[in-house]
Amino acid sequence: MTRRVAILVSGGGSNMVRLVESMTGDHPARPVLVLSNDPEAGGLRRAAEMGVPTAAVSHKPFKGDRAAFEAALSEPLAAAQPDIICLAGFMRVLTEGFTRRWQGRMLNIHPSLLPKYRGLHTHARALEAGETEAGCTVHEVTAELDDGPLLGQARVPILPGDTPETLAARVLVEEHRLYPAVLRRFAAGDRTPVLLP
Ligand code: GRF
Repeated sequence: MTRRVAILVSGGGSNMVRLVESMTGDHPARPVLVLSNDPEAGGLRRAAEMGVPTAAVSHKPFKGDRAAFEAALSEPLAAAQPDIICLAGFMRVLTEGFTRRWQGRMLNIHPSLLPKYRGLHTHARALEAGETEAGCTVHEVTAELDDGPLLGQARVPILPGDTPETLAARVLVEEHRLYPAVLRRFAAGDRTPVLLP
């Protein structure tokens, strides 16, 4: 049975594009919705150009009431009936209630080698700490931020003269390889981690 995938974005959506591009042919899943908390998100435009249904629910009118925002966010989700949710640069922290509802069916990509550097500014923190390598992680989403079971990881070297920007660009290339590889395996029911050199 083909799995239905909804992708949540807040920004440009480069990971979303790679996920959508990968879901063709014998892939066990198909995209059914790209949803954003920002009606102006570049990712919505790119998804529409690729023929994927889109929707936006701004978090702003909810003034920090996350449960109310998530109730509104759940309407287009309920209509699309996804089997799997991929968070791809979705920058709203989800409540325990929402993560429990989708537990085991919701993935996220994070730009660090978790459990190191949960949260924001991962590349600057890795550089400040004098790390020799960095990377990205795909994990199942649980109530704890950036904490769920690991589904994939990719590593990159930190090079002399690196800035958070040059490191982010090198990691993003790996994100675009890792997330589609993990989704293909996860949608086939296989949770064996994908580890890219
Ligand atoms: C990515 O680096 C992702 O790891 C992080 O946000 C960024 C989103 O980039 N959570 P894009 O919108 O997929 O281009």
